[in-house]
Formats: sequence, C-alpha cells, structure tokens
Amino acid sequence: MRALPRLAIAALLVAIPAAAVTVTVAAHAADDPTPITVLTSDFEDGTVQGWSGRSAETVAHSTAQAHGGTGSLLVSGRTAAWQGPSLDVLGTFEKGTAYTISVWVRMASGSDNARLSVERRAGGVAAYDQVVGNTAVTSGSWVNLTGRYTLASDVEFLRVYVETSSTTGSLHIDDVTASYVPALPIQTGIPSVKDVVTEFPVGAAITGAEIVTEHGQLLNKHFDSVTPGNALKWDATEPSENNFTYAQADPLMAYAKANNLAVRGHTLVWHNQTPSWVFTGADGQPMTATAEDKELLLARLENHIRNVAAHYGTDIGVWDVVNEVIDESQSDGNRRSSWYNVTGLDYIRTAFRVAREVAPHAKLCINDYNTNVAAKRDHLFNLVSTLKAEGVPIDCVGHQMHINVNWPTIADTESMLTKFIPLNIDQQITEMDVSIYTSNSENFTTPPADRLLKQAYVYRDMFALFRKYPAEITSVTLWGLADDNTWLDTFPVTRKDAPLLFDTRLQAKQAYWGVVDPSKIETSPSPSSPSASVSTSVSPSVSVSPSASVSPSTGTSACAVTYRITGSWPGGFQGEVKVGNTGTTALTGWNLNWQFTGGQKITQLWGGSPVQTGAAVTVTNASWNGNLPAGGSTTFGFLGSWTGTNPVPAAFTVNGTACAVL
Ligand code: XIL
Repeated sequence: MRALPRLAIAALLVAIPAAAVTVTVAAHAADDPTPITVLTSDFEDGTVQGWSGRSAETVAHSTAQAHGGTGSLLVSGRTAAWQGPSLDVLGTFEKGTAYTISVWVRMASGSDNARLSVERRAGGVAAYDQVVGNTAVTSGSWVNLTGRYTLASDVEFLRVYVETSSTTGSLHIDDVTASYVPALPIQTGIPSVKDVVTEFPVGAAITGAEIVTEHGQLLNKHFDSVTPGNALKWDATEPSENNFTYAQADPLMAYAKANNLAVRGHTLVWHNQTPSWVFTGADGQPMTATAEDKELLLARLENHIRNVAAHYGTDIGVWDVVNEVIDESQSDGNRRSSWYNVTGLDYIRTAFRVAREVAPHAKLCINDYNTNVAAKRDHLFNLVSTLKAEGVPIDCVGHQMHINVNWPTIADTESMLTKFIPLNIDQQITEMDVSIYTSNSENFTTPPADRLLKQAYVYRDMFALFRKYPAEITSVTLWGLADDNTWLDTFPVTRKDAPLLFDTRLQAKQAYWGVVDPSKIETSPSPSSPSASVSTSVSPSVSVSPSASVSPSTGTSACAVTYRITGSWPGGFQGEVKVGNTGTTALTGWNLNWQFTGGQKITQLWGGSPVQTGAAVTVTNASWNGNLPAGGSTTFGFLGSWTGTNPVPAAFTVNGTACAVL
C-alpha cells in the first residue's frame, strides 16, 4: 500500500506542535507499516528546540533562512569541521530499533560536504556512526540528508549531529525528523532455513544491530553461522599501525559463541577498507615496487594476520584470507591493487602461510565476486592451481555470488562449481544476495511483485543447484539478514534494494519459500510490474487511448468485476481484479470498493491506488487506466496478507454502483 503511509506521515507531521517534541504514538497496530515519528525540530517557535553545538560554536534560532515556515537553526563560530548542531537522543532512540533520520542543511555561505552522524558513548569511550556520508551542500539551496540508524548496544550518551568535511563556515539546519516503523515479531511457525537445508551450514552476514531484539531472534532461528560484514576488516581491527582494536567485532563474536553460531572471518587482506598507512612507506610516500617497501608491506601484513587471527583463535573456523585478488581485465588476471603492485603475488603467499601458522585449525579461503564469469573463474582457477602446486595452503574457494534476478544463469553457476572440483578443495558461497535490479538506472520505491517472484525462482534454483554438490560446498552465506539492512541500498547506486530472504520487517518473502519449500511459491505467469504497466500507458484490455475524447460519466454505468487469487502461500497471496464497464456510457475515472471478510490486507498494488480501512477496500484508477469506454475493461494486480482463510469478496461497487461478479 504505497499511498497510505506517505499521507499518514504528512498528517502526523502537520499535527505535531511547533516546539521540539518527542512524540510516541501509543495506539498503533503491530502490523501497521505507518512510521511513528519520535522527534521533530522545525524551529518555528523562535527557540533552538534543545539543539546545541558539539563544542564552543554558537547555536541560535534564525529567520535568515527557513526550509519550511519562517525559522531555522543557525550554527556559527565553528572552528573545526566536526563542530556542528547536535541533539540529545538518549531516551528517544531505543536499542535495536531502526530510525530514519532526516535533516535539511544549507550553508550560510560557501559550500562544503555535510554529513549526518551519531555519537555514542559507553563506559566513557566514544564511537561515531555515520548515518549519511558526505553530501554536497551550498548556500544556494536546502539539501536533505536522510539515513537509517540502529543503536546496537547500551550507551550512556547518544547525540545526532551534523558536521562538514573541510570548511568551518556557518550552516543552517531545519525540519529534522526521526521516525521508525514498529517491529513485527518474527514468524516462529515457519521452518528454519537451517533445518531444511542440511547439506551445509547456512549463514548470514551482519553489521551490528542484527544481534539485538527481533533481528537476533531471526538470526538464531534460521542460520547456523554468521559473518561479521565489516567488523573484521583491516580498517576496523588495525586503524593505525600496531594499534589493534576489536571493539566492533568482539560483541558479535561473543553473541555468536553464546548462540552456537559458527563464524566466517572476513577478511584479512583486501584492497578496500584498508587504511592508507598500510601502503605508506617509511619515507611517508606511497609505496612502490622497491625491495624496502615490499619488505615493510609484507611485515605489516604478517603482523596484522598474527594479531587478528590469534585474537580469535579457534572461535573463527574459516577465514577469507584474501579477498578479490582477480581482475579478469588484466591479461594475467591479477588485480593491480597496492598489494600486488608492491609485492607481486607474494602478499597472497605470505597471507596464507601466516594464517595457517596462527590458525592451523581454520579453513583458509580465497574469496572473489563474479566467479561465475568464465574469464574470472578461469583466472582464479589458474591462480589457485599454481599456488597450491607451490604448497600455498589454500583450502577453499569463496564464491561471493552477488547476483540479480536475471543474472547469471544456473548453467554458468554450475560451471563455476564444477570448474573447481578437480582442485579437490572446499567451495563456499560467501556473500549471496539477489538484487531486484537488472541495471543501474532502475529505481523502485517498492519492490515490484514480479521481481520478487523472479527472485524467489532464483533462490529456489540456486539453492537446488548448491544442494546437488554437498561434497564440494561446505557453507552458503547470505550477505545480510533481512532487506532492512543491505549494502545494496547504496551499491552500486543509492536506491532501495530487497535482495534477501526476509523483508524490511523481517517477514519471510517468497524468496524464503524458494529456499524452504518451492511448492509454496506463486506458480501462475508473472504479474506485470508497476514500471512495465506504466510504460505501456494503457492496459492492453483498454480499447481507447487516454487522449480519446469520451463523454464524462457520473458513475451510473453498470459494471462487472472478476476477482481472482492467482497465487497463495502461508500468510500471503497475490490477486488480480478485472474491472469492466458493461454500461453504455464511458467512465473517465473509477473507484472500486469491496469488503474483505477474512481479515486480509492489501500490502502492494499495481495499476491503481488502494486505500484500506479495516475490511473496506477502495481502489482508484491509476492515471493511465481511468478511461473505460462502454464495453472496456482494465485489470490490476495486488499482493495481500491473510491468516486463517482467504475468502473471495462477495460484492463490488464501481463509483457507488453494484457490479455483476463474474
Ligand atoms: C561491503 C559491506 O557490506 C558494506 O557495509 C561496506 O560498506 C562495503 O563492503 N564484497 C565483499 C564485502 O567482500 O566485504 C563487501 O561488503 C561487499 C562486496
């Protein structure tokens, strides 16, 4: 139901009094996806509404600029880029709840990049979480920063703040809001993925807050293993030379241990998320292929692996020792990273040798993406063959499997697996997700039903393939737990993606059923996606173009409605409704009404705009299918939820007139 939440947010914001307030709406149905606003600062009352600076900068109410209304907050006298407006949200933000924070920013003069962050302190130690990264801001217009934030641990200090990246000019902020969609309990009555897929352990990558509240329950219910998504990378564990810190990873590791989850260690050596000091020579210059630089870099590498792998000992049973070393656009297949440029292939040899010494119990993997692409696969195969022949202790090949609903084919994926069988090593699927997008230019605010269906087929077919190779595949890990937290929301472009088995409210998707019980997936022909419907302008069954001149109707035409359930699975279903004009006058717009008698709820609809109040549903035509000539018809589709029974509605009206039910 796309239109409803937006209207509801707008209504809520309008209703909020002008002062800085913390609003908690108590009476809220647990399954209602309408966001609840917990803070709003509009600076319309002439005060700073609780905001202050982060140090000695001046914070004042201002009428020089306003995003909405007549007031904003002005921060001046900044002497460092990190200084900026900040608000206490301790007691406002609860642990484990994902808040969407939005702030409008405008420079008073000049331009810079602005960031939105949260500072939290526990036991007197501060940590800084970026909510929205560098975003260009100027004095010419307001810029919105919106991001999601989930507090993962207990704190004694919690403030949101805006800072800039380089200059110290004055800046305005306005119309700040934070809201959340109430969590739904996880579904406990459905099979656990790990109980259904028994050929190998199944895991999920997590990036922090997935170990608290409902996320933790979902993780425990469905998965055998966990991969810290960022917490074991070099920038997290050794941010400056020989200064090892495990503040990010230790809570995840403790959780894994307490909950009997195996851990994949990701990753010891990569070209990304590695601090620049690593590649800076003793002379302060970027390293080059000299003997001194090579020696220093390999020594740093050895020191890093010795410390990190030793810190966790046998708690980590598998390590991605090196990550993404192949570049198939190079004729030799070797990625020209700083690692390679300075040491050749010796960084890989050193990494595996040291990892084996420090973690002799652990499976040691070489991990890469697009290994289903023949050229990449073959370079990886050749490299592993060569290194293994030299005695480099590589135990496993990790296939990341960041794929999408259209790509790759099962055949190519099977060739990827069979290629490595002669090497007699383990294979692991390490970072699987299935994007709903097939190009960088697509952008859906809500995942279209046909993409989710395709995705379910992909998960079904890929898991069926993996399960054919139980002797080779020793684990399958998904790169995330649920669609509310996926790296694909910002990669390769910023847009909402939905690549995992559980939706943004942690409920099982068709993708989940694709893995767990494909007989429960929708089997009728794919519905058309909203974008496909829009691009055809008119539904194929409408016989006039939107511009055809028809005489307006007051809605007295006779009508016929066909309501079909085209697919059904536990808790969800897909429907199709045909609206026919059987009268003698053309309709220039239609409103279809019915009552659900089984407590069903529409969750998404294409080809019209739905409003549901309790059992009563009203669907209004989309812009392109409102014209229904006499004898014409149009069809729209929807997804809904149900429990118990899912009866077909008995009666329909179009523009207030009762229709024949066909
Ligand atoms: C991603 C993380 O999920 C993001 O949070 C981070 O910002 C960038 O890295 N291949 C890998 C993973 O091996 O480490 C990457 O993880 C995704 C691509």
